[in-house]
Amino acid sequence: MAMELKLTGIRPFINVDEIRNISLMINMCNEWLKSKTGAGHDYLGWVNLPNDYDREEFDRIKKTAKKVQGICDVVVVIGIGGSYLGSRAAIEFVKGQYYNNKHGKDTPDVYFVGNNVSSAYLNDIIEIVGDRDFCINVISKSGRTTEPAIAFRIFKEMIEKKYGKEGAKERIIATTDREKGALKELADAEGYETFVVPDDIGGRFSVLTAVGLLPMAIAGLDIDEVMRGAQEAMKMYETNDINNNDCLQYVAMRNILYRKGINIEVLVNYEPALTMLGEWFKQLFAESEGKEHKGLFPVSANFSTDLHSVGQFIQDGTRSLFETVIWVKEPRTDAVIQADEEDIDGLNYLAGKSMQFVNRKAYEGTLMAHVDGGTANIVFEIDRADEYHFGYLVYFFEKACGLSGYLLGVNPFNQPGVEDYKKNMFALLGKPGYEERRKALEERLAKQ
Ligand code: PA5
Repeated sequence: MAMELKLTGIRPFINVDEIRNISLMINMCNEWLKSKTGAGHDYLGWVNLPNDYDREEFDRIKKTAKKVQGICDVVVVIGIGGSYLGSRAAIEFVKGQYYNNKHGKDTPDVYFVGNNVSSAYLNDIIEIVGDRDFCINVISKSGRTTEPAIAFRIFKEMIEKKYGKEGAKERIIATTDREKGALKELADAEGYETFVVPDDIGGRFSVLTAVGLLPMAIAGLDIDEVMRGAQEAMKMYETNDINNNDCLQYVAMRNILYRKGINIEVLVNYEPALTMLGEWFKQLFAESEGKEHKGLFPVSANFSTDLHSVGQFIQDGTRSLFETVIWVKEPRTDAVIQADEEDIDGLNYLAGKSMQFVNRKAYEGTLMAHVDGGTANIVFEIDRADEYHFGYLVYFFEKACGLSGYLLGVNPFNQPGVEDYKKNMFALLGKPGYEERRKALEERLAKQ
């Protein structure tokens, strides 16, 4: 089994009848997803994607990645939200947070920009790129998002200055809508290689399309394995039999807790390499569920690091949260603690033990302490953090997210709230067409 659900940390908080009572509704939600008849059904392309993906484009992704690996030392990936979180999460999940700093690797460094509007951040990356050979993968489904558009304008100028317009063309790859949007227009006009974000897949569900797969392949990830993991999860979580479907169980448990007022979910890891998976998870669930004044607030925590910060709250603070723990059984590498003759630090009782052994004890001890303190724990154990398990987890959470949104009675596939800040920002920046909004906002600002 690719992923095992452990129930000891949840049993004291939920009983079997509660799961049974909710299971019929979850089955209905599962049918809506499978038959593509629920709210937002135009955005359900991700449901069968692990089987139905475009093989021709998939091969082109691999070829392009090889080409990029051959001509670049650095790749700048430009995108925000669903257009960068998944690939960054994948690269760190498989290769660790210090992928870029690894000596002797034969794949390019990958840096992510256009996911904020900080000039200091952007200038840091420009400095890091320096005079090294670089390529750009600019990703925007709508092709008109401000943050990546600004970053692209700056990096486009840089790359054209370095390689000339013709040379730059060979080094810029655009991932965007099949036919519309400013980025598509620009890519066509300039003759960039392009990859498609399918119409029926929203940004935060797009990690298994070229959006996520191209940066992953460039960093040397085996994208066949990513898709194999997703395929396996798709099969595994199809059934309506909740007793044999951990995804449905997870959806049931988090919804039951939510109904009891436990409305914050903390995605916990014990491997720093999963930090960005937590960021991806937060976007997926927050943008999908957080609507009409409903939804669980997703946060993430890295243990044992955060046991020395938010651990106190989880143990003893307001009882408003539960934990979903991803435990990785086999770390990428391990280290053994050696005996020390003097033992001044008193650690000789651990001599001969591996770091993973200590990490496991931290996980087991924390789990029991938090449960005793009144915090429910849903635990998933995976064998290792590799491409296969990344694909598997992605599909698991995407499916859980779609079902959870339906169960709450919201459309999980739109994001009306994200548009509000954008409109205000455009108005305040003086974008044509937003004059009235600008006047109203400026009047409000003047009163502050
Ligand atoms: O999930 C979503 O749709 C959003 O978070 C988008 O991914 C994000 O806003 C970026 O949009 P785009 O890819 O159109 O630039």
